Amino acid sequence: MSERIYDTDLGDEEVKKEVLLRPENFSEYIGQKKIVQNIDVMVESAKIREQSMDHVLLSGPPGLGKTSLAMIISKALGSDLHVISGPAIEKKGDLAALLTNLEPRDVLFIDEIHRLPVAVEEILYSAMEDYRLDIVIGEGAAARTMQIDIAPFTLIGATTRSGLLSNPLRDRFMAHLHFDFYSPEELAKIVENNAKKLTLKIEDEARLKMAKCSRGTPRIANRILRRVRDFAVVRKSDEVSMTDVEHSLDMMEIDSEGLDRMDRKILSVITDYYNGGPVGVEALCATLGEDRNTIEDVYEPYLLKEGFLIRTPRGREISEKTRKILGTTHQGTLFE
Ligand SMILES: Nc1ncnc2c1ncn2[C@@H]1O[C@H](COP(=O)(O)OP(=O)(O)O)[C@@H](O)[C@H]1O
Ligand SMILES: [Mg+2]
Repeated sequence: MSERIYDTDLGDEEVKKEVLLRPENFSEYIGQKKIVQNIDVMVESAKIREQSMDHVLLSGPPGLGKTSLAMIISKALGSDLHVISGPAIEKKGDLAALLTNLEPRDVLFIDEIHRLPVAVEEILYSAMEDYRLDIVIGEGAAARTMQIDIAPFTLIGATTRSGLLSNPLRDRFMAHLHFDFYSPEELAKIVENNAKKLTLKIEDEARLKMAKCSRGTPRIANRILRRVRDFAVVRKSDEVSMTDVEHSLDMMEIDSEGLDRMDRKILSVITDYYNGGPVGVEALCATLGEDRNTIEDVYEPYLLKEGFLIRTPRGREISEKTRKILGTTHQGTLFE
């Protein structure tokens, strides 16, 4: 099995650290029950048919397990996995070269598929539907279309927002699977499994605290776990205490609600600058000095899900819950 990995949203170091903690098979893959059930049937069916698995679209905020699932799927199929990222494919020829090199039943994982250039995306239509490339040679009246057959393969697309995908592309995926944030219990289980991999012992209470402060996101749980481990190592202990967890969360500027610095900044800006809202996302991002995609893909989903933020036709508003939290802690210290 070969794996080619280019993950654009993570640095090299982060990727290396994640490899150790990645779930290796379905039994290590916690939660997302609906998705796993769907995938299980698709994988089994493909194996019985001895054909490629149907194309799947995975959508959801970063760090919820899309890449990990793609790796587990290709392993379960016994197929080679090829990993690329949408924005990294600049020319039609790059994707054509990749597609013509696939072996039957290989899995091609395209991360951030909504960021594929449109001209490149069009190559995928006939590739997905008929395992064929339509290549136009020449220009104007002399232009001809050439067709090249490619191996039957499985495309797994991952996106932080399926709404940004063009209709023709979205329609060619047989299954659309959406990732939800994880419950604290599921995250506690992930922390437990990963602590074992790092040969660490953790008190139940400390484990649950980490789970509650992970923004429903396994990648964040892992990040906290690694920080917590550092504290334990420095104390020359292999047992994590509640104090280690509290120190780590403090250093990472994660509060008791599990919100990080940027979460609090977003809520504070709406409160201070826009009187609690509503405020349009453009204005909000300009005030924050942040990229709109980052705010909408990374931060908002959790704030909306947990009811800190409300989306109305006139823009974003903070909720009563947020007002209460800020009311008790907000002395101008939250927003720097
Ligand atoms: N369902 C899961 N069970 C256990 N660990 C998970 C799960 N989902 C994600 N993780 C952990 O979180 C990390 C980030 O997940 P990843 O698959 O890279 O997310 P995404 O591709 O959606 O951004 C993984 O390395 C893995 O350790
Ligand atoms: Mg990923």
